[in-house]
Order: sequence, then structure tokens, then C-alpha cells
Amino acid sequence: MSEAEDLGIVRLVAQYFQLIDPKSLAIPPPCILKRPSVQDRIYKEMFDEDSLSPIIPPANYRLRVLKSIITRIEASEEWDPEEDEIIESLMTAFATLMSQPPDPSATDGKSTPQLSFVKYTLPTSQTPRSQHIITSESRGLLYGFGSTGFRTWEAALHLGTYLCSTETGQELIRGKRVLELGAGTGFVSLLCKKHLHAETMLMTDGNEKLVELFNTTCLTENKFADTKSIQGKVWEWGTPLSQEEGSPEPFDIAIGADLTYDTAIIPLLMDTVSILFTSYGVKKFVLSATIRNKDTFGAFLAACREYNFRIAKVPYESPPPEDQMGFFHETRIRICTYIVEP
Ligand SMILES: C[S@@+](CC[C@H](N)C(=O)[O-])C[C@H]1O[C@@H](n2cnc3c(N)ncnc32)[C@H](O)[C@@H]1O
Repeated sequence: MSEAEDLGIVRLVAQYFQLIDPKSLAIPPPCILKRPSVQDRIYKEMFDEDSLSPIIPPANYRLRVLKSIITRIEASEEWDPEEDEIIESLMTAFATLMSQPPDPSATDGKSTPQLSFVKYTLPTSQTPRSQHIITSESRGLLYGFGSTGFRTWEAALHLGTYLCSTETGQELIRGKRVLELGAGTGFVSLLCKKHLHAETMLMTDGNEKLVELFNTTCLTENKFADTKSIQGKVWEWGTPLSQEEGSPEPFDIAIGADLTYDTAIIPLLMDTVSILFTSYGVKKFVLSATIRNKDTFGAFLAACREYNFRIAKVPYESPPPEDQMGFFHETRIRICTYIVEP
């Protein structure tokens, strides 16, 4: 197999574990897929439940992906039913998935959506393929009341890509005491501690269910034994950060992604950033924002000016989706990263 063909399969596997919509998966061409050795690899790396469990996508997602792959092979002009075949293990996996009852819908509109493990692959090509972050979330979640933190948003994937694939991004985190605001699934916090050498990492969010999920399932699945150097804490902006005895814990840097989506929360966010600068030793706040609405983001920029914060836009764009090798995300809506300083 050529290096390019190998990369095509590595990319498909990485997208699959990130639960990318089956219609958007980069499925290699049928001439590659019809090779029994490639099918065997696809079975082992994607559909062999016994060895991959518990980090596997939901059954309905697995079924849709496997169906797309099989259809792609069989519908191709190169497919010769006399000569070619889909290997038995893949056909058995397909039959098993077909016979399962459908999963409950991704969210029932109530407070806790249906969750599944999502495995994110680091986009940095030089790193070994085993560099991952595992979250527990509801990938299909739309913006909704009270549950927006139960999925990792594009701004977090953009921030993660910037932090791990640029020297300046890595420098921001290496050896630092980092605090994340409104961390949601904790994706960026996990990245900073697991792969970017943060000295300590405090994941915070106002939603206690998210923090509990982070402190239990996420820390365990990412193999963190030492919960002193990484932990989650409930912190609702506008209330004091609950502390251990003694003086406030110092931090070097605060980070956040997709926190400027609603003008109503910006005053509280700015107040919190101001407290981090004055009372917690924070010297920089790094924020990635999806610019869905210019006015909302304008309110954040205006608030920074009111507080006399210095603000600088980071000259970084995510690669287009077709060139991404991990932390896959859409780039159609602009995402920007800013560094805010007192
Ligand atoms: C759009 S989500 C972003 C989550 C994550 N940073 C990401 O990009 O994937 C916004 C997050 O901010 C949290 N949040 C919103 N208002 C908050 C507040 N007043 N105090 C603390 N967290 C808040 C929500 O619980 C949610 O997890």
C-alpha cells in the first residue's frame, strides 16, 4: 500500500471516531476498498466491537458508515461480483448492525442529551497515530437551552488545532497553570494536559453535570491517574470560584472557546476575565470564537475596550476540511482567536 493510500485509511478511521457525518467522510476509492487486506484493516480498526469497545460510535452511526462503504464498493464499475467479495467479518458486522433496534435519538430535548464516546485525533502529522483525546458527548447536538456544553464546538476544535500545530500555540500552554472557562466537554482542557504539557489544568463550567462527567468518565478514559494536576470545577461566572483553603490558586493563562454566542452572557464573562487578571495571576486570556453574528462578537470587542484590555487577533486560520488530518471541523463560518491582556 502506498503512503497516500495508507493516509487515506488513517484519515477515514480518525473521522469515523470523531463521528463525522457519514456523507462527509473521506471514503477511499473502490479500487482500494475492494482489496481484502484493506477491508480486513477497516474491520479491525473500525468495526471489531470486541477489541474496540467501549470507545465505539453509536450503533446507528456504525451502520450508516458501513453501509456507505459497502455500497461504495459494490456500486463501482470495478466491482465484479464473480471475482470480488466483501470479506466475511465485515458482512457479519453489517448483518449484526442491521438486526439491532435503532438507538434512541441523539437528544430528547431534556436536560441531559444521549452521550457517546468521541475520539479526537490530533491533527499534527509528525505525532504518532495514537495521540487522541476522548470525550463523552452528543455530537449531533444543536444550540439549545442548557445543553450547549454537551458537545465540542468548532471553535474548540479550531483552538485545539492552533494550540497543537503552531509553535506559538504550544508555547502558550507548555509548563503553564491553565484555567479553561465554559469548557463544556473539556476537550481543550484534556488537550492541554494530555498532549501540550500544561503544568496544571483546571477545567471549569457552570453546568455541574458537565464537570462531573469530566471528573469521572473523561479523566478515566484519558488515563489520568493524578487528579491533582488536572480536574474540573463548577464555576458559574459572577459567583466566586470555590477554592481550597488559603489564597486564590494562581494561574498563568485562561482559555475559552465559543463563549461569545449570546450578548446576554458577555458582561458576566468579562467580569470573570477581569477577576482572573486581578486576583488569580492570569496574564493572558486566549479565546476562540465562531463569528455567527457580527453584533454579538462586536459586543465582546466593545466590552474589552471598556475594560481597557489589550486585544490582539491571532493570525491563524484552520486548514480547509479537505486538508485536515485530525480535530476535523467546518471552516465555512469564520472562527477567530484573540489574545486578551490586562
Ligand atoms: C457553546 S458552549 C462551548 C463549550 C466549549 N467551550 C466548546 O467550545 O466546545 C458554552 C459553554 O459555556 C458554559 N457557560 C455558559 N454560560 C456560563 C456561565 N454564566 N458560567 C459558566 N459557564 C457558562 C456552558 O455551560 C457551555 O458549556
